[in-house]
Amino acid sequence: MVWRMNAIEASGLVKYYGSFQAVKGVSFSVKSGEVFGFLGPNGAGKTTTIRMLTGVLKPDSGEVRVLGYDMLNEREKIKAREKTGIVPEMANPYVDLTAMQNLGLMGELYGMSKAEIEKRSLELLKTFDLYEKRNVKVRGFSKGMRQRLIIAMAMIADPELYFLDEPTSGLDVISARLIKDVIREEKKAGKTIFLTTHNMDDANELCERIGIIRKGKLIAIDTPEKLKQLVEGRVSVEVSFEPMKFDPSVLSSALKIERMGDKVRIYTTDPDATVKELVRYAERENLRIVSLRTLSPSLEDVFMELVGGRND
Ligand SMILES: Nc1ncnc2c1ncn2[C@@H]1O[C@H](COP(=O)(O)OP(=O)(O)OP(=O)(O)O)[C@@H](O)[C@H]1O
Ligand SMILES: [Mg+2]
Repeated sequence: MVWRMNAIEASGLVKYYGSFQAVKGVSFSVKSGEVFGFLGPNGAGKTTTIRMLTGVLKPDSGEVRVLGYDMLNEREKIKAREKTGIVPEMANPYVDLTAMQNLGLMGELYGMSKAEIEKRSLELLKTFDLYEKRNVKVRGFSKGMRQRLIIAMAMIADPELYFLDEPTSGLDVISARLIKDVIREEKKAGKTIFLTTHNMDDANELCERIGIIRKGKLIAIDTPEKLKQLVEGRVSVEVSFEPMKFDPSVLSSALKIERMGDKVRIYTTDPDATVKELVRYAERENLRIVSLRTLSPSLEDVFMELVGGRND
């Protein structure tokens, strides 16, 4: 058994833009082989933190170790980056180059041989469903194709660690699924993944641990299931009737009622009582129950509870 260190160690990270403090003393570590999610509202400081972790921005104070290398030391930073694949926020491939040429350029940056680049590029183009388009200039690529290419480029040198800043943002479900599958495969191969996303379902599905940042401060860090225990009691029952009508006054067990599209969601501490009340109501009013389910608190509930529904 090889002793493995933490892949990422951040301690006391602070970053100012002018007089504005964007990151206010953030500390955490990411274990080797872990998928770690970094969540937070717009402007919370996720991208700023990633930029410090990847050595793009120098923190005003604090320390960063990536794969054991001190990111404030220029030489060590280069060694860390050789083993790291980065997908920056809103990155773009070169539009005047083909998919193959973009991969080639990235491979050269990582010091790979022509033969290695060619072999790996073709593999990745197939994985990301871009093989047919390999010799087409990126200018003609859709957003999803560009993003898939950006991720392929980050993977060219088979890095140990990935930093992915909103890798599935704005993508259709097919592209997003493909990228999530790749993340899972990389995890299986022992890679470490640091990921930011606004998609709570993705975070829930992919991440072993999650950190939540708000206004530059880390306010929670734990496994998704443990985070959900923070909002225990927020069980809900979701129901849809046909025809859709609903009288909230028939429910004595409801804490809060929300209309959601063609459904109603009822937050309750006693789902058994709520379900029975709903069934009696449907029978009395001669309504058909189209769907009825009880839901445990979701990561979105946790997020709303902790971040308070306000954008920062
Ligand atoms: N180059 C910059 N100059 C000045 N302020 C900046 C700069 N970059 C970011 N900020 C500010 O720092 C704060 C954190 O920004 P950051 O991009 O890290 O947030 P984020 O969590 O990645 O948000 P999002 O979810 O929208 O991507 C914001 O208030 C932002 O306006
Ligand atoms: Mg960002």
